[in-house]
Amino acid sequence: MKRNDVLIPAEELDRQREIRQQLYQRISRLPEQPLAMVDTYGCQQNEADSEQIRGMLSEMGYAFTEDEGEADVIVINTCAVREHAEMRVLGNVGALTHTKRRKPSQIICLCGCAMQEPHMAEKIKKSFRHVDLVFGPHVLWKFPELLSQVLDKQKRVFETPDDPGRIAEGLPVVRQGKLKAWVSIMYGCNNFCTYCIVPYVRGRERSREPERILEEVRQLAAEGCKDITLLGQNVNSYGKDLGLDIDFADLLEMVNAVPGDFLIRFMSSHPKDASQKLFETMARCEKVAPQLHLPVQAGNDRVLKAMNRHYDRAAYLDEIRRLRELMPDIVLTSDIIVGFPGETTEEFEDTLSLLAEVRYDALFTFIYSPREGTPAAMLPDPMSKEEKNRNFQRLVALQNQISAEKHAAYVGKTLRVLVDGENADGKHTLTARTDGGRLVHLNGDKALVGTWQQAKITGSSNWALFGELV
Ligand code: 5AD
Ligand code: SF4
Repeated sequence: MKRNDVLIPAEELDRQREIRQQLYQRISRLPEQPLAMVDTYGCQQNEADSEQIRGMLSEMGYAFTEDEGEADVIVINTCAVREHAEMRVLGNVGALTHTKRRKPSQIICLCGCAMQEPHMAEKIKKSFRHVDLVFGPHVLWKFPELLSQVLDKQKRVFETPDDPGRIAEGLPVVRQGKLKAWVSIMYGCNNFCTYCIVPYVRGRERSREPERILEEVRQLAAEGCKDITLLGQNVNSYGKDLGLDIDFADLLEMVNAVPGDFLIRFMSSHPKDASQKLFETMARCEKVAPQLHLPVQAGNDRVLKAMNRHYDRAAYLDEIRRLRELMPDIVLTSDIIVGFPGETTEEFEDTLSLLAEVRYDALFTFIYSPREGTPAAMLPDPMSKEEKNRNFQRLVALQNQISAEKHAAYVGKTLRVLVDGENADGKHTLTARTDGGRLVHLNGDKALVGTWQQAKITGSSNWALFGELV
């Protein structure tokens, strides 16, 4: 696609801004400011999208609530990556019939990845008649227009066009906090791992221009943001579509050069294009956090091939070895799928041995969930649910042991941490994060939230570290 076709034209975005202003005029004449609630499922990209939805709602004059009973507009941003997430959304949307009965003017909107699946949109249309607006990820930027159609015409609106995907620059955002921020650097995915729905619902890979990303990072740094996560489905293919001879490592270097006192994280990385250049750049750039999420998915070569992952166990382990040579203390995390169609327990045991070899600090573990329209959903899947569950439990038990050992090794060390919030555990007053992203429970004055501190680690569990300020 040509660059001009990728960017949504400025006139179209201006038109949406005008619609937001018109709605604002209308809304500001109401006796009371209307309230909106935005509920987000799924990954960080969805969180980032919800911040733009809040940005648009705020410009249209809405204030925010967490109470669905009093909301005038409810937006539910859905996830399609596993069936469980879809079922939870449907359950919660079903329950909204009650709130809407009590408040018939309430507008219920569904967006996000699950709405881009034709069978889900169809289900909402037929069986969830209280839902007023359904829109897919490709038309997020059109939300003001779609919402005003619902308000003006009092009719249901469905807008889920199939689209390779474009980029809308300059949408307003209301961020969740001042301390941490997501910055999308690219959208979509071209990898088509055989189990994954993402490429079908989020379109093809497209990168934001470096200058737009840097502008956003500069502004965040100037506002005192301390922890910036660069987001993309596969950040390692950043720039391939730009024709500027800039890759992800170059972008990291440029973000690192932005003045300010902040850490840079990024996710997700695909092992097939995590380059030596990237590792060297990470090691060299002082703002880049000593942390990498490098999803391996499985430890067996036949399974990796069936997943269409484009690397094998040996290549993955070699990457980890080279990375640790450059950054010995790097915090490593990964995603694992248990029970991919046809995976035997013997093959699954290769995942266990890979875990024991790599010794991740933490893992995100999933039982395979068939996604309609993906190649893996068509494969024979003879293993029983019980056996998959048993394997899953073995995986979790092994990782818990490794996490506990890795956390215990922190005890006695003094580390820099960012105090990032007040603690709700009843035993400590503060939460903090190490540069590598591990959670630390601490006691101290609440005024310290937002500052870097030195913490001595005094205890640990599977999940977290405990410490005291020094
Ligand atoms: N079933 C289970 N897990 C999945 N993931 C993606 N698709 C599926 C699926 N169909 C997991 C992968 C990915 C993470 C975001 O979700 O591990 O890295
Ligand atoms: Fe899905 Fe694979 Fe793309 Fe990740 S890289 S979004 S797992 S297809």
